[in-house]
Amino acid sequence: MKHLEAGNMSNGRFSHLLREVWLLWQAVFVVGSGSKLWEVPTRPFMSSSNFSGSLQWEPHCQYPHLQNGVKITADIPPSLDGTWVSTRCEVRPGPEFLTRSYTFHSSRHFQALQHYYTDSGCEEPAYSLMIRGKIRLRQASWITLGGTEAEQHLSKVGIVVHTVAARQRLASRLPAACVGLSLGRAVPGKMYELYNTRAGRGCLTALGFSMMEMDLVRVETQHHSHGGKVQELFLGDIHTDWIQRTQHRPTGYQQPLQSAMYHVHPCPVCALVYRSSEQRPPKLPQSTAAPLSLAGRWVSQRCETRPTVLFLNRDFTFDPSQHAWEGIYRHYSDPACSQPTFTLRALGHYAQENPSTKLSGAYEFVFKVTQVRVTAWDEPTAKLLNSTRPGKCGLAGSWKVRVEQDLTPTDGCPVLGIKLPHKEYELFKMELDHRKLPLLFTGERPTDASSPDRPLRRPTSFQPPMVLCSEGETQSSRMSFNSKQVQLASATERHAQLVLLVFGCALGSWLCVY
Ligand SMILES: *[C@@H]1O[C@H](CO)[C@@H](O)[C@H](O)[C@H]1NC(C)=O
Ligand SMILES: *[C@@H]1O[C@H](CO)[C@@H](O)[C@H](O)[C@H]1NC(C)=O
Repeated sequence: MKHLEAGNMSNGRFSHLLREVWLLWQAVFVVGSGSKLWEVPTRPFMSSSNFSGSLQWEPHCQYPHLQNGVKITADIPPSLDGTWVSTRCEVRPGPEFLTRSYTFHSSRHFQALQHYYTDSGCEEPAYSLMIRGKIRLRQASWITLGGTEAEQHLSKVGIVVHTVAARQRLASRLPAACVGLSLGRAVPGKMYELYNTRAGRGCLTALGFSMMEMDLVRVETQHHSHGGKVQELFLGDIHTDWIQRTQHRPTGYQQPLQSAMYHVHPCPVCALVYRSSEQRPPKLPQSTAAPLSLAGRWVSQRCETRPTVLFLNRDFTFDPSQHAWEGIYRHYSDPACSQPTFTLRALGHYAQENPSTKLSGAYEFVFKVTQVRVTAWDEPTAKLLNSTRPGKCGLAGSWKVRVEQDLTPTDGCPVLGIKLPHKEYELFKMELDHRKLPLLFTGERPTDASSPDRPLRRPTSFQPPMVLCSEGETQSSRMSFNSKQVQLASATERHAQLVLLVFGCALGSWLCVY
């Protein structure tokens, strides 16, 4: 299904070109105006140092706590000071299960605590890492709009193993010399140095450890109408391929950490993680398993950022009685999801398979996409699709802005990376949030933009959760969205020319060499 999503829309070549276009822009801009580290030349109408945007999609489908005009701002450069904690048991590709508590000081020193677990509920701690270093914010990211590039230097990484079983598992993964003494003899509960500035990185690499996540940072502040606020820290994504992860320069984000000071209430996990130390890892309470029940309509909680420059929100409807599924992927050119570029509507079928053996509580699925419709929301995208060879991408010559086209008769559209019919191996899980409302987690996309079209490529981690906005809703209710989006598009269109030029240019040059 999500062959249609951002990651796959941009195959390697596309992202490469897009990156080149950005770099070109950067060169032009820097020459033209001196080195303005905190400005990004894409929104001439918007102050990039005070970037703000509010969620734009259908009000009745917004996450309840984002209703009533919650405003989201993201400063560039962000202020990282303070402690930031996990709000749930986090799942990294592998899978790896962890909780994090990161503290940043105004001196630029940071202290990052990572607790790793043996189980998908973070109930049984295996080992903890205490990471100390320094971070320097460098400049606004030209690749991931809204993000800030940073560089970190590690000074120390210590490990505390919590159980004998965990020690055995680690000893089989790490070179024997890693903790000064043989890891096999390490005492549970005692801290050992895994890395310092004099030692090499061999032990860290063997552990699949890197702090490259700190190379891309973003802080979002939700301002609630009743005066309260919630702050979230987004750090760079972790590569889905284990081999790549210690070298990976992030262009997307992980699930955010929340400020220990300004977080959603109540957050029992936040409190446990905040009070933890490397000697006392938090043991999360057993979560009440949410049975998987897909029926209804699910939407993104926020504007999602995907590796390599794409911003989108997702809107899925499942009809279990027919095993039918429809997914709408709305793509935007900005991190507030206010400037639409194109929308994909995919339809097909799905089958639920076995409970996952790697991730307890998760289920394996197979999705088949049989039909895709595309709407261009801006001229460059419409022109690009219009200029495809006849028979390759819908009806060539008949693409118009805001008019949906069916790609099924041409078996997809190579320019958009869509080939029909298409099959994908998926991983889903459901959890309840702090108000006992269901959250739907679907599998994370491979970072290299490949498609999980084989069981071996099935994801082992998740995308940001979606929320249920109505159970068992029907097709007809969709119409209201379309008309709203038309208004949205025309209102923002006139502002968007510069960025669309860039975007269209990248697509165009990709097309030229395709
Ligand atoms: C930044 O945005 C906030 C919220 O919209 C506004 O009140 C404030 O005046 C802005 N500050 C600057 C420097 O533009
Ligand atoms: C698409 O192509 C047709 C035929 O070449 C042309 O008449 C039309 O103006 C084009 N539309 C856009 C949006 O470029």
